[in-house]
Amino acid sequence: MADWSPTEYLHYDGERSRPFADLLARVDAQPRTIVDLGCGPGHLTALLHARWPGADVVGIDSSPAMIDRARATNDDPQARYELGDVTEYACGTGARADLVISNAALQWVPDHRALLTRLADRAGQAFAFQVPGNHDAPSHVLLRSVAARPPYADVVGPVERRATADPSEYLDLLARPGWRVDAWETTYVHVLTGPDPVLRWISATGARPTLAALDAHDPALRERFETEYGAALREAYPARGYGTALEFRRVFAVATRV
Ligand SMILES: C[S@@+](CC[C@H](N)C(=O)[O-])C[C@H]1O[C@@H](n2cnc3c(N)ncnc32)[C@H](O)[C@@H]1O
Repeated sequence: MADWSPTEYLHYDGERSRPFADLLARVDAQPRTIVDLGCGPGHLTALLHARWPGADVVGIDSSPAMIDRARATNDDPQARYELGDVTEYACGTGARADLVISNAALQWVPDHRALLTRLADRAGQAFAFQVPGNHDAPSHVLLRSVAARPPYADVVGPVERRATADPSEYLDLLARPGWRVDAWETTYVHVLTGPDPVLRWISATGARPTLAALDAHDPALRERFETEYGAALREAYPARGYGTALEFRRVFAVATRV
């Protein structure tokens, strides 16, 4: 599959980074070592260093484009970035850390629920993560329904519904003896500007595998899909004088050793 585009991903940097700051605010720990799983283009590790100066921070991501970008921009010269996989990390590859953190990445990992206690066990002090909880938002329902139409369905097959859990389910999975768990959700209302902003937003993330599959088959088919999907998104997310409102639900959990 085509790799991520760090440039397109960072177009909505401010909106995408805000949940990370909200997650950090709830971490009650003094880590000297931190692993950021699915770190993306590396723009967030500086926030970790701002909160815990001097901490040894390693960002791990499975995307070569994201890791290259993180190393090239050098936004946070103190951090190190490594190609790696969350599932392998959960199974014991790579160094343990006082804090294991992950923002907007675990939803991409197959059967992420089954990995949560393993990931927490790799943390000496705390394990904190945020995942989108918008798998049934109009943006995703429309993606699945347009992709299910001919001629797209023959190329992409059914689009996976990457469902994350509710906060109470994450609490239930992580609240073992010796751990205190804080789980919650927040719905942000992002005000996006520019033409077709919701299409642009989701093309860099949730719709990326579908668009890449269409593009690999025939770039004209991808364009046709974008036209059809874009029209459906404009109806679901109408542009107003102030911009286009995108409601985005996110689910958070912080498990801390007691
Ligand atoms: C939506 S981006 C989030 C990036 C960053 N954490 C942020 O909040 O801006 C998701 C990232 O997860 C990474 N990712 C997806 N599956 C992964 C896996 N199995 N192992 C490691 N990284 C993964 C992707 O390559 C991508 O960089």
